[in-house]
Amino acid sequence: MKITYFGHSAFLVQSENFNALVDPFLTGNSHTSVTLKDLKDITHIFITHGHSDHIGDAEAIAKKCNSLIICNFEISNYLSRKNLRTHAMHIGGRRKFDFGIVKMTPALHGSGIPTDDGMVEGGLPGGFIIEIDGKKLYHAGDTGLSMEMKLLERENIDVALLPIGGNFTMDIRDAVLGVDFIKPRIVIPMHYKTFDVIDADPEEFKKQVKEVEVNILSPGETFEF
Ligand code: NI
Ligand code: MN
Repeated sequence: MKITYFGHSAFLVQSENFNALVDPFLTGNSHTSVTLKDLKDITHIFITHGHSDHIGDAEAIAKKCNSLIICNFEISNYLSRKNLRTHAMHIGGRRKFDFGIVKMTPALHGSGIPTDDGMVEGGLPGGFIIEIDGKKLYHAGDTGLSMEMKLLERENIDVALLPIGGNFTMDIRDAVLGVDFIKPRIVIPMHYKTFDVIDADPEEFKKQVKEVEVNILSPGETFEF
């Protein structure tokens, strides 16, 4: 599995015949210069929750690439009305797809979808475990620290993508405890520095995590595992 970071919580996840985006926030994301026209053949788009910095450019990308959007039932309902291809899942649900196995995990957060006509109900926020060829990637979405993370230890996560920015999600102090709960092989921090209120230092996070390898990705950087 190969992942490329676009800043914030946006990642490209690739494997054979699998070219997926998670939380594709590109327009308005000052940490990436990647735009819609740079993206092609996106097979799948995962959306953790309804906030605009996570749904991001999903609609435009899915329209362009005919991608399958995997998200919770409520966001799936909202997007399918726009004639997009969606697959609805929900918290705790696991499903085998042709590319691998996906499990939706809980998150402590909100999931309203901001629109021009006000906030639309976006169900519950979540995260995803994406398993391909025995390798497991966990994208936590936006979440506070939760005891549910203790259960993830049993999933044997290879790479965990965890928010560290604080204010809307776990800060460094809580994310360090989250790593101890999840016990992944490698942790990659996300959701920091993109906005003034989430100005956390990933080097400080790295210093505080003791037993797990921390890999700080710069926007545009790729990591294979
Ligand atoms: Ni959010
Ligand atoms: Mn967010």
